[in-house]
Amino acid sequence: MTSETLALSRVAAISRLKSHFDQKKWSLRELFATDPQRADKFSCMAAGIDLDYSKNHLNEDTLQLLLDYAEEQNLSNQISALLCGANVNNTEHRPALHTALRFQGQPQTEHQRAVEDCRVQMKRFAESVHNHSWRGFSDKPIRHIVNIGIGGSDLGPRMVVEALRPWHKDSIRVHFVANVDGADLSDTLADLDAEETLFIVASKSFSTLETRENALSARRWILSAGCSESQLAQHFVAVSSNITAAQDFGIAPENIFPMWNWVGGRYSLWSAIGLPIVLACGYEVFAQLLQGANAMDQHFASAPLESNLPALMALTQFWYRQCWNTTSQVVLPYAQRLARFPAWLQQLDMESLGKSVDKDGQTLGYPSGSVIWGSEGTNGQHSFHQLLHQGTELIPADFIAIKEPTSELHEQHRWLQACCISQSQALLRGKSLHEARQELEEAGHTHREAHALAPHKVIPGNRPSNTLILGKLDSFHLGSLLALYEHKVYVGGCLLGINPFDQWGVELGKQLSSKIHKAAKGEIPQDWDSSTRSLVKKLF
Ligand code: F6P
Repeated sequence: MTSETLALSRVAAISRLKSHFDQKKWSLRELFATDPQRADKFSCMAAGIDLDYSKNHLNEDTLQLLLDYAEEQNLSNQISALLCGANVNNTEHRPALHTALRFQGQPQTEHQRAVEDCRVQMKRFAESVHNHSWRGFSDKPIRHIVNIGIGGSDLGPRMVVEALRPWHKDSIRVHFVANVDGADLSDTLADLDAEETLFIVASKSFSTLETRENALSARRWILSAGCSESQLAQHFVAVSSNITAAQDFGIAPENIFPMWNWVGGRYSLWSAIGLPIVLACGYEVFAQLLQGANAMDQHFASAPLESNLPALMALTQFWYRQCWNTTSQVVLPYAQRLARFPAWLQQLDMESLGKSVDKDGQTLGYPSGSVIWGSEGTNGQHSFHQLLHQGTELIPADFIAIKEPTSELHEQHRWLQACCISQSQALLRGKSLHEARQELEEAGHTHREAHALAPHKVIPGNRPSNTLILGKLDSFHLGSLLALYEHKVYVGGCLLGINPFDQWGVELGKQLSSKIHKAAKGEIPQDWDSSTRSLVKKLF
């Protein structure tokens, strides 16, 4: 098949799905009323995660059509291609082997051997910090770690460190600085003692503006506290695939942890980019994170598509995006410690699926990635949930619940669970005009008042959601959850026919920011638009 016919065949297949959509009046209430076993039928469990996807607009026929579409796209082969290290990142001619970062057992491949060496290096380094054999320039032990990185070199480790708070070591505090806004770095350093602070410069490319500027400022800060140039090595380590640039910055070669071009930034928390996790919680906790992810990898590799969690989640998202015209997807972790999960997922999903051409460069004849957003429950309930319930958009939701309490306050945990379940139930059921009127009359309103007020109280309902349950918020379950979403996004890319591993879209802004930074000091080019010219004059 030529690339044009392949692109057209996807459009044709999607239009078959659309005719299935057109044939039916979709009612979640009805789907549940007609099938008491629905929750059991549309639930799956793998690697410590229980997925209930029954509150979706799906019946057996829908699922079959989606699975047929997946097979037409050779999804099973594409999954194997990812896992065996084929060049799935076709525009950059390389594999995406983040799954090799969480291999278990003895290393078998060249990639796994490199990973094993890196694990040993991470473990030794963290031990030397924890047992205080690693010391700062004035011989004080290290008590503060500041990770300087952005995007994939920040969001993953930052989220995991926050999620695993009960496992934090007392002797060490881990901080994260990402923004080029100097307030980020200076606010973080304000409370720290330079003599006890170690920086991790985390940058795969070692050329990212934000990381470079923050790292340079951090170096000046340490030097101004009395550290000599030759003692800098005691306060800086790096994680990068650009060894030369890291060395040029002044980082000792033995303090550079490797990164490889076969790992994408947004998939890198399992590599030495996860060093802050090891420092905050100890290597064993990190190892369990890898085990959890590996358990999900095994499931992804072997489960048939009809019971494959990442595939099912991607197929439902595809169904809504293509046939229901949804434009966004909300993720609602009902766990305070997962407050940073939506931000991590935003990069993973939107940087991967925000594309307009397929793998062969053909313009897509259908929409691609959705806007991903959300926040921790229950906070969102008192903010944007209003729009989820009564707004005009249909926004599919992923609820994430944790079975075991995450604090000593067990009664509050019961409330948290009740709120989580009630939100998905409310989205499903809604409230009809009749129910709204009845409720108002029962509350003592006159018939006339009830009629006037009722339309404002109508909640359309019929709004879909998944609920994922983790047995516990520990590193194993967290690893499994993150791998689940990584694979979901990969499947999303396969269904769309795009390359989910490049991100050329972020380059233009980077190029222009350098030009603007330069122009601010000199001549503003005449051929720039008047708004840009005027903003440069006003802001600099
Ligand atoms: O600008 C986007 C991006 O390239 C991400 O993909 C990446 O995670 C982030 O920047 C940071 O890149 P690096 O680790 O090379 O500094």
